[in-house]
Amino acid sequence: MQGRGRGAAARRDLRILVLGAAAGGGFPQWNCNCANCRRARAGDPAALPRTQSSLALSADGARWALLNASPDLRQQIAVSPALHPRNGARDSPIAAAVLTSGDIDHVAGLLTMRESQPFSLYATGRVQAALAANPIFGALGAAVARRTLALDRPEDLLDRDGGRLGLRVTPFAVPGKIALYLEDPAAGPDFGTQPGDTIGLEIDDGAGGRVYYVPACAAFPPALAERLAGARAVFFDGTLWNDDEMTAAGLGRKSGRRMGHMSMAGADGTIAAFRALAVGRKIFVHVNNTNPVLLDDSPERAEAEAAGWEIAFDGMEIDL
Ligand code: MLT
Ligand code: MN
Ligand code: ZN
Repeated sequence: MQGRGRGAAARRDLRILVLGAAAGGGFPQWNCNCANCRRARAGDPAALPRTQSSLALSADGARWALLNASPDLRQQIAVSPALHPRNGARDSPIAAAVLTSGDIDHVAGLLTMRESQPFSLYATGRVQAALAANPIFGALGAAVARRTLALDRPEDLLDRDGGRLGLRVTPFAVPGKIALYLEDPAAGPDFGTQPGDTIGLEIDDGAGGRVYYVPACAAFPPALAERLAGARAVFFDGTLWNDDEMTAAGLGRKSGRRMGHMSMAGADGTIAAFRALAVGRKIFVHVNNTNPVLLDDSPERAEAEAAGWEIAFDGMEIDL
């Protein structure tokens, strides 16, 4: 690891900042009266609030790429000095944003970035088409270069004007679901989902290692296990502990599976799926407010940690 001086020239380490560790709705969610949300709202120190799903990534500590743009982006930037303006009258260290889906919790933050600040917007053709079809995103205007990600093609991230950020990501399809607001009930049991609707990102650490960001994943096929094995770090879908967690608590009609998320617990759960994989750091992100692992004092938290998992929190920083 090199020097940590802010603004110092050319740091080569990969820095990853968790801007928001919660799933859609955040923690606490505005209209949720579940036991977790009540504790968070009451200021219980074992129920730390979390904003919605996003990471920031940098190779030099100076220029950053957002991985997803959450509805809480404005607040996330405000509490992250690395993302504050530095030079000139208008400035942002955020040079790019990469989307892993068209879900509202991953795109609504783009509307916070509508002040003609240049950046690149990376997404698959499916997600770019959804954005292009929605006139509200026209507010981003010509300052934003929309660049299309092809599955399994490594991409050296560029700023709006083509300057390299020193970050290479490779998008890959993961089992998932089309965004809720695009579901077509007439299209069968998968609601019209196609490859590219939900992706994971492989991030090249610049030193021969791999880091993964997979904030939504519906299942764990062998090919995914093979891909993730041996990674330095994996940030993975931590939406629910149990598939029926929300329905059992009377908080909705949908299971985790219906929403495109595998769950942590059980024989076909995430904790079991990762047990045999040699992954350096396993970090749950996109954690739903109903998930008991959010509570520092829950047995589920202890179980996840005993299996080597970390539960992400806002402001968590990983330097690789
Ligand atoms: C999800 O993670 O299931 C989605 O963000 C739900 C949504 O789009 O509201
Ligand atoms: Mn989500
Ligand atoms: Zn809740």
